[in-house]
Amino acid sequence: MKKVTAFVGTARKKHTYYAVRQFLNSLQSLGDVECEIVALSDYKLETCVGCKTCFIKGESSCPLKDDRDVLIEKMMASDGVVFASPNYAYQVSAIMKTFLDRLGFVFHRPCFFGKACTSIVAQGIYGGRKIVKYLDFVGHGLGFNVARGSCVTALEPMSEKDKVKFNGLLAAHSKRLHNRLSQAPYPVPSLLDLMRFRMARTSIRLMLDETSRDYTYYRDKGWFESDYFYPASMNVFKNAAGRLFDYAMSRNANK
Ligand SMILES: Cc1cc2nc3c(=O)[nH]c(=O)nc-3n(C[C@H](O)[C@H](O)[C@H](O)COP(=O)(O)O)c2cc1C
Repeated sequence: MKKVTAFVGTARKKHTYYAVRQFLNSLQSLGDVECEIVALSDYKLETCVGCKTCFIKGESSCPLKDDRDVLIEKMMASDGVVFASPNYAYQVSAIMKTFLDRLGFVFHRPCFFGKACTSIVAQGIYGGRKIVKYLDFVGHGLGFNVARGSCVTALEPMSEKDKVKFNGLLAAHSKRLHNRLSQAPYPVPSLLDLMRFRMARTSIRLMLDETSRDYTYYRDKGWFESDYFYPASMNVFKNAAGRLFDYAMSRNANK
C-alpha cells in the first residue's frame, strides 16, 4: 500500500480542495493507495527571515518555532506528495510559498529521493500552467520523482461541460502519479541532473569546510565520492560526463 499526502495551500475548502479530493478519489480507485489531505492553514508556519542559519549551521538551528518539522515528517512518511495551490496573482498562494520557503534548506540538501510528487493548481482564468511548472520544478529540486501536474480552471459558475473537463483532467493526472508510484523509485539521472549534482558537490567540497552543514551533510552521505545522490547504473558516456563536470567545477573553484 502506498501512502500519498496532499499539502493544500488554501484557507478555504473550495476549488483547490475539491480538485484535490477528486484527484485522490481517482487515484485510490486505481488501487493500492491510501491518502491524506493536509490543510497547511491548520498548521503554524512562520515567515522565513532569510538568516540562512539552516544553510550554514543546519535546520535544527533555525530560530523560528513552528510546525515545519511536523510537515516534513509527513512528507517523509509518504511515498507520494501533492502540492496544491490556488493561483493568486500568477503565483502559488502565500501560505504555500511560506511552506516552500521553510523547506529552503532541502534545495541545498535534497532528501526526498525514492518518493514521487506532483502538483495541482486551481485558477480562475489564466497563469496556472506556469505555476504547475514551478511546483514541479520545486518538487524535482527537493529530490522527488515528479509526475507532471495539472491546472484546473474553475471560473464560477461552472457549467456541466466545464465540470466534466475538470474531472477528466484530474482522472488522467491521477494515472500519471499512479504510474510514477509504481515505477523504479531511483531512476537513472538525466545528464542535466548529473551535471547539477557533480558541480554542486565539487564546489561544496572545495569551497566549504566542516563549519558548513552543507559540507558535513554531503560528506556524511558519501556524496563527495559517489556517482550520484543514490546508486544508479550509468553508462560509459554518463560516467565520463560526470568526471568532466567534476573537473570543470574544480578548475572553476581553484581560480
Ligand atoms: C488574491 C487572489 C488572486 C487571484 N489571482 C488570480 C490570477 O492571477 N489568475 C487567475 O486565473 N485566477 C486568480 N484568482 C482566482 C483563483 O485562482 C480562483 O478563484 C481559484 O479557484 C481559487 O481557488 P479556491 O477556490 O481553492 O480558493 C485569484 C484569486 C484571489 C483571491
